[in-house]
Amino acid sequence: MIEIIRENHLIHLRNACISYVMVETPEGILAHLYFGAPLRQLCPHGLARHAGVERLSDFTVQECSLSRLPQELPSFGLGDHRPGALTAVAADGTTAVDLRMVSAEVLDGKPRLEGLPATFGEDSKTLRILLRDAHTGLEAELLYTLFEDVPAIVRSVKLCNAGDKPLQVTRLHSLCLDLPDDQWELITLSGAWARERSISRRALVPGFQGVGSRNGASSHQASPFLALVRPHTTEAQGEAIGASLIYSGNFTATVFDSQFNTPRMLIGLNDEDFSWLLEPGESLQVPEAALVYSQTGLDGMSQGFHVLWEGHLLPRRWVHQARPVLFNSWEAAYFDFDEEKLLAIAQSAAEAGADLFVLDDGWFGHRDDDYTSLGDWYTDRRKLPGGLGRLADRVRAMGLQFGIWMEPEMISEDSDLYRAHPDWAMQIPGREPIRSRHQLILDVSRADVQDYMVASVSQTLQDSGAAYLKWDMNRNYTNIGSIALPASRQRELPHRYMLGLYSVLERVTKAFPDVLIEGCAGGGGRFDAGLLYYSPQYWCSDNTDVLSRCRIQYATTLVFPPSTMGSHVSAVPNHQTARVTPLEARFAAALGGSFGYELDPRKLTEAEREDIRRQIAYAHATETTRLTGRFHRLLSPYEGNDTAWMSVSHDQREAIVTFIREHSLPNTLPPMLALRGLDPQLNYRVEETEEVSGGDELMQAGLCIPVKQGDAEAVVYTLHAVEA
Ligand code: DGJ
Repeated sequence: MIEIIRENHLIHLRNACISYVMVETPEGILAHLYFGAPLRQLCPHGLARHAGVERLSDFTVQECSLSRLPQELPSFGLGDHRPGALTAVAADGTTAVDLRMVSAEVLDGKPRLEGLPATFGEDSKTLRILLRDAHTGLEAELLYTLFEDVPAIVRSVKLCNAGDKPLQVTRLHSLCLDLPDDQWELITLSGAWARERSISRRALVPGFQGVGSRNGASSHQASPFLALVRPHTTEAQGEAIGASLIYSGNFTATVFDSQFNTPRMLIGLNDEDFSWLLEPGESLQVPEAALVYSQTGLDGMSQGFHVLWEGHLLPRRWVHQARPVLFNSWEAAYFDFDEEKLLAIAQSAAEAGADLFVLDDGWFGHRDDDYTSLGDWYTDRRKLPGGLGRLADRVRAMGLQFGIWMEPEMISEDSDLYRAHPDWAMQIPGREPIRSRHQLILDVSRADVQDYMVASVSQTLQDSGAAYLKWDMNRNYTNIGSIALPASRQRELPHRYMLGLYSVLERVTKAFPDVLIEGCAGGGGRFDAGLLYYSPQYWCSDNTDVLSRCRIQYATTLVFPPSTMGSHVSAVPNHQTARVTPLEARFAAALGGSFGYELDPRKLTEAEREDIRRQIAYAHATETTRLTGRFHRLLSPYEGNDTAWMSVSHDQREAIVTFIREHSLPNTLPPMLALRGLDPQLNYRVEETEEVSGGDELMQAGLCIPVKQGDAEAVVYTLHAVEA
């Protein structure tokens, strides 16, 4: 059931999970009234009192302060002194914008967003609202979409200059949500390379808080997400409102607590170093944002995001498709390989039962280190004399699929591509370029660069017949300048770059729908809903250490489902932390995502190789439940010594439970782990212990977990429903 009800200037969007209510003031300002659990109806009395008037019909911008009115697309200059969602500079240099309602219409389904990844789905209804500033002719089109049975609303904004003079847009957020009280805490995901997406939860304070990126990627440092939760909200109970931006570039996700204790959530393009020139008739579409509501704690919020992405964002071809268990060559060989070595690794992988072998960096140009060759996407015959095609054929002859790594957005100065097209690099003429990881970034805003990227990726996929592409991106913006853009449009470059990237990905995924793309940005430096639209899995972090992964993966699941997290077992000592942990624990952590290995199997003992055979068989057998079941976090590594999570199949008959203890504890009792999501009426047999318990007992009394002594000890249990 989806309803969009319009009565007496009220607009009520409702499905079985949420209501979102707006109201048009008598002067045509689009005010926000409510977002939360579904309601039968809503009267705007409360809003009137908030706005300082008896009845909403008494509200006028002359007599009352816009600072008191919750709004859908607040701008600046007419009395609302909170940070707004929109700023535009008119031809006379002034910035006041006064948007009033022109029309509202209900559409079946959801229109595509031009040039941007966005949610989709036929089981939806969309409300299109048009606002207009009579003074400048600036028009804003707001789209609000609701899907069946998803506790979320998605919203996007498009500006059009319908006036006769140019306008400069200097801020346009995708989402604004004004809340009536500030009894909330803020959750964001922040981090660094190898420490991506760490949970930060803090009280609201007056003024600004939030995260953002100016890196040219959503970044290792911050995720385009924020949530407000009640102070008592836990995993299992309490309200939570989460917002996520479907975008991979510069963003901000902020909350501003006002003088009236009414917080305003804003998420959208980062407006530092941003402006966009709108000549008469031109338009600007900004990314879509998703807003999820939960009354059942963080678990409910995450379920909301997972259901939304799985049903309406991830590529349909892959969302319910088994993901190959892969062996990646990077930590096994780095740049030091030849065909013989790769084939030996692949042979071991095949014998262990893997599905796919991935050749990572170092196969093209003359790339023996990271100083050269990006852009020269032809095989280095010194290493692979028979070309990529022969290697791929030999890998396939072992019964494995072949996968390949590329970094299509980059260019090395030592490359034929740079020698031919130095103007293709992002640059500021006359300034010394900053060479992060010794490389420059292609100016992906240019159509000729986009064509080259599509051609070189297509050629590589064709030559190798690859079934999988790891699309990497290893550095952030510096020298942000495009030779192809006029001075008046240079500050459009970061967003134009993203539009160019999305257009390339659109073309590549259309031409190669059966190639599984795994996104990567020096690990998880661009792990966002924007890229997941094209690449259903994303390399979660370069850090594969078990204890680090517990934190990174636990936090990532706040927004994204397990299938999206590329997760590998690697060698010890770990290459990032130097920690030595048991193989079983590395396996347990990696099982929490799209599973694979990142090591040289030839260096393992026979016993370890046997373990890996068993692990891969287990990963295959449990794949559907692990990757498409409902995911629940049980114990947080941010709050204690233990991490636990579980996945339950949709029919509640299968479940996989993972428990990992960080530090060994002497003289303790085995923990009783309270499970979630089982059917209380069913009995479950634990495959590893053969014990049978009721679903109610497992959720209320808990499952006893005997943990071995030692740091990073893990237990994985497999539950099957049995007849009573
Ligand atoms: C960074 C990635 O995160 C690694 O997995 C690897 O692909 C390297 N780039 C290769 O340069």
